[in-house]
Amino acid sequence: MDEHAPSDPVPPSEAADTPGRGLSRRGALAGIAAVGGISAVNVGAFAWAGGWFTPDSLSSGTFVDRFEQVYGRHSGFRRNHAKGLSASGTFVSNGAGAALSAATVFRTGSTPVTARFSLSGGMPMAADQNGTVRGLALLFHLDGREQWRTAMVNIPVFLDRVPRGFYDRMLATEPVAATGKPDPAKLAAFLAKYPETERAMAVVARTTPSNGFANSPFNGLNAFRFTDAAGATTPVRWSLLPEDPFAAGTHAAGRDYLFDALIERLAHGPARWRMVVTVAQPGDPTNDATRAWPADRRQVEVGTLSIDAVATEAPDNARDVNFDPTVLPTGIDLSDDPLLAARSSVYARSYQRRTREPHTPSAVEAPEAHRAQ
Ligand code: HEM
Repeated sequence: MDEHAPSDPVPPSEAADTPGRGLSRRGALAGIAAVGGISAVNVGAFAWAGGWFTPDSLSSGTFVDRFEQVYGRHSGFRRNHAKGLSASGTFVSNGAGAALSAATVFRTGSTPVTARFSLSGGMPMAADQNGTVRGLALLFHLDGREQWRTAMVNIPVFLDRVPRGFYDRMLATEPVAATGKPDPAKLAAFLAKYPETERAMAVVARTTPSNGFANSPFNGLNAFRFTDAAGATTPVRWSLLPEDPFAAGTHAAGRDYLFDALIERLAHGPARWRMVVTVAQPGDPTNDATRAWPADRRQVEVGTLSIDAVATEAPDNARDVNFDPTVLPTGIDLSDDPLLAARSSVYARSYQRRTREPHTPSAVEAPEAHRAQ
């Protein structure tokens, strides 16, 4: 089948994976455990993941076609969060998370991490802007054959509650050739259909982004479930809070000013974030990433992420990782958030297309001295 045939359906279980790290594709049948490096993917999720395509026949192929329609097709690049830098570091757990989750990453000790800093949107050469959503994706290399992958952003809530909302938003905000702006009538109709997006946009608009990656918070936004050693389950969300102090404004000029500042920052030593887990109370929504939980919810600081090095995207670093947020170790499970299954299959489709295309040079160049070893 032509890989780029429009609307090509992909079984969610067909999620592609990380070449070069001994990982291989998940089993072709939903529910078959991952082969290669990931033994503890929550395969239960994939049984229902197929359900998000229906009843309106939105498939991962259709979704990725829309990214390509809106942003163009850029050979070898991610269809969203196309502009980025690979990074590496360590997560040091303080042991406090072990009371909530049996995941080995929360035992006292350290875990190596492959990371990627990115800007949202599908244009790898886009000029940096403070208002563009920033991403930080992490792959924790746990002992044994487990991994934890998470892709987080610097905004406090997500703009869409359901996958179809994201899809419709891409179309409703696409600039019209004549004006260079979205069609106001289309946008108004979209917002009337998705009032949660209008509310979330207002929350995001009230949040001033920091002036760099190193002093940005990053939020997981989707809810997950932690299960402790005794089998008790707790709905949670997680965030990374920067140790570098907040500052607003633009501190440099140039197309890549945010990435250049990150490279410069890391030349002076690691950048650190405290990982904080927020614990839900009964009634807090776990299926709606547009809604924050009340500010007084219990927060547990579980450890510190240190990023020591960044590298130009290349084979064997984060370039070829699919940061599928449903790749979870024992002790962390999916919630009923409908975005998660969609993310898994759309990321797999984007990954599948980009890794079969010739790679154009990375959009952001890190000096050799700062390449991860
Ligand atoms: C239905 C909802 C979503 C869709 C369809 C979607 C789509 C995508 C796609 C196609 C990619 C590129 C994947 C690749 O080629 O490896 C991507 C990357 C990313 N997404 Fe999403 N996304 C969704 C929701 C979210 C949410 C809720 C978050 C944050 C909480 C998020 C954060 C990110 C980040 C940080 C990346 C870059 C990961 C990397 O560096 O590889 N996305 N997204």
